[in-house]
Amino acid sequence: MEAGRRVVVSELAETPLEAIERFMSLEPMPAPDVASLGSNDVLVAVKSAVVGWVDLVMASGQYQHMRQPPYTPGLEYAGIVAARGAGVEDLPIGHPVLVDGLTAGPRSVGAYQSQGGFASYAVVPREALLEIPGALSMDQAANLLGNYETAYHCLVTRGRLRAGETVLIHGAAGSTGLAAVQIAKLLGATVIGTGRSDAKLAQVTADGADHVINCRGEGGVGLRSFRDEVKALTHGKGVDVVYDGVGGDISLETLRCVAFGARYVIVGWASTPFVSRGKGLRGAPNANVLPTNLIMMKGLDVLGAPAVISTLKDPTIRPPRLAQVLAWAREGKITPRISHVFPLTEFKEAMLAKWRGDVLGGCVLHP
Ligand SMILES: NC(=O)c1ccc[n+]([C@@H]2O[C@H](COP(=O)([O-])OP(=O)(O)OC[C@H]3O[C@@H](n4cnc5c(N)ncnc54)[C@H](OP(=O)(O)O)[C@@H]3O)[C@@H](O)[C@H]2O)c1
Repeated sequence: MEAGRRVVVSELAETPLEAIERFMSLEPMPAPDVASLGSNDVLVAVKSAVVGWVDLVMASGQYQHMRQPPYTPGLEYAGIVAARGAGVEDLPIGHPVLVDGLTAGPRSVGAYQSQGGFASYAVVPREALLEIPGALSMDQAANLLGNYETAYHCLVTRGRLRAGETVLIHGAAGSTGLAAVQIAKLLGATVIGTGRSDAKLAQVTADGADHVINCRGEGGVGLRSFRDEVKALTHGKGVDVVYDGVGGDISLETLRCVAFGARYVIVGWASTPFVSRGKGLRGAPNANVLPTNLIMMKGLDVLGAPAVISTLKDPTIRPPRLAQVLAWAREGKITPRISHVFPLTEFKEAMLAKWRGDVLGGCVLHP
């Protein structure tokens, strides 16, 4: 077996940009020692690793789940079986597999946290491996679980979105946002997607959104008002459910165009990435704030929706979610989009593209 390479985070940074520029490097990875594999272990030759928002905030020590450096990023990845332990008999060498990021890699909590996907190889337990569903490519498979399980958790488990309702999806061209658009349409909802680029919003429409709103402010700066447009699209009523992965100003504007009794799902805050302190210091001195008067008078349900934390607290929510996402993928009803592909050697460019917001859907590395 050949030697490889892996990305190493040497120290937690203050910001994602500092992490990329100063504390991440590509290092040689020795040829894997197949004889040392545990009985239940599988050596995966990584073919596609997602460059995700969480990889950025984790490297700057802002993320709730702390990985102590040195570590290899890459929460989600897919590849082929390169070797296996003596107890693994059902997976042939060369078999394509999808790695479950909750069981192995930096976002998992067990013994395989060190096995990030920004590397030529990763050692994972057999139970972390899933068949690639349907006709998905390696890149699409790597982009499946994190995005679609998040969207499912937010829209179905938390948002209780039903057929015939209208959902407003912010950051609709983003990784999780585009997944949310596709799932909301499968649920029979009317979808209004927001974004900042007409070109990206064209894909949001192609993926099923009934209406899109470019909310980029005048001269490309800030945010423009969209409440009247949303009110008009909902015949004055406002939307039933909000999927908010953007946060900040967009949330305040949104509270003006929700129906009475709407469910407001907090997914994330991509527009305000410095909510938490960097360097792993904990605390969120710049947290977004929502006005209680509007929440009260509109009878809103404001729903925090951390998919992984909720799953760790109540593991029973995952099997039906995972089964549904995999079934939809097998049936060709959901399709992850990937706009940017980089070789592992260009991991910094890949992370910068994600940070700048160049990406539509997903961005991947090919080790
Ligand atoms: N709840 C959970 O379990 C969970 C799971 C995964 C991720 N998240 C969180 O969800 C958020 C989105 O993640 P993601 O992976 O989808 O990120 P992403 O792919 O980078 O997408 C974020 C989207 O936000 C939009 N955006 C960014 N800054 C904006 C601004 N200033 N004004 C308006 N729109 C802005 C961008 O829209 P344009 O592309 O149109 O510019 C982009 O498409 C992050 O905060 C992430 O941490 C939560």
